[in-house]
Amino acid sequence: MSEQGHVITLDGPGGAGKGTLASALADRLGWSLLDSGALYRLVALTALRNRWDPNTTADRTSAEQKAAALDIRFLPDRGQGRRVLLGTEDVTDAIRSQNVSDAASKWAVQPAIRQALLARQREFARPPGLIADGRDMGTVIFPEAELKLYITASAEERARRRFEQLSALGVTANLDRIYREIVERDARDASREAAPLKPAVDAHIIDTTGDNVATSSQKICDLVAAKGWLAE
Ligand code: DC
Repeated sequence: MSEQGHVITLDGPGGAGKGTLASALADRLGWSLLDSGALYRLVALTALRNRWDPNTTADRTSAEQKAAALDIRFLPDRGQGRRVLLGTEDVTDAIRSQNVSDAASKWAVQPAIRQALLARQREFARPPGLIADGRDMGTVIFPEAELKLYITASAEERARRRFEQLSALGVTANLDRIYREIVERDARDASREAAPLKPAVDAHIIDTTGDNVATSSQKICDLVAAKGWLAE
């Protein structure tokens, strides 16, 4: 273990189940959790509130300064994932809106924003360990992590899960449209210049297609147990 503690990275496309698996693993091990997507979402929320435009230099500079000093905390929420706090404000629901999702993907392609968030993300590493969830955790932010996982699922399965989530919330959705959006977003994420989405060369690939959360969690726990960390 380094003086920052152990690090396990979970990367992969949206909708593969990373967030659920990452917070369950953090709970099981009693380690900290970094939901890096929430940082990009917070930059986007702040930008929307201030009407900052990612294509305007002065606005980008303001967003960069904000990103470098983000006062964000993740608090366990009775086994239901994490509450996200920006200073003292609970922004858990606000950062999940469609507006913020759209804006986050625009800010996330800005190299200066990614750079500003780099050190901020590394500050989350502390003993006994950190579970880091995102797109570039194993490739860029924690390249020295001792266990790297790449969580994926077919685009059809991710679209179906999203559709069911929206239906459960009472939102009318179109499965074909969700599927097309997922395929387009995958292509954008994989081809962007700054930190494109790809597995680290030393990542274990976990395909969650057809598996429930318990089955995928068990696959991950087997890898963690092999490191001797479950009993620590
Ligand atoms: O995982 P998410 O949907 O909360 O991520 C929000 C946005 O941030 C999404 O557009 C992907 C992007 N992101 C990223 O570029 N790098 C990360 N490490 C995490 C998220």
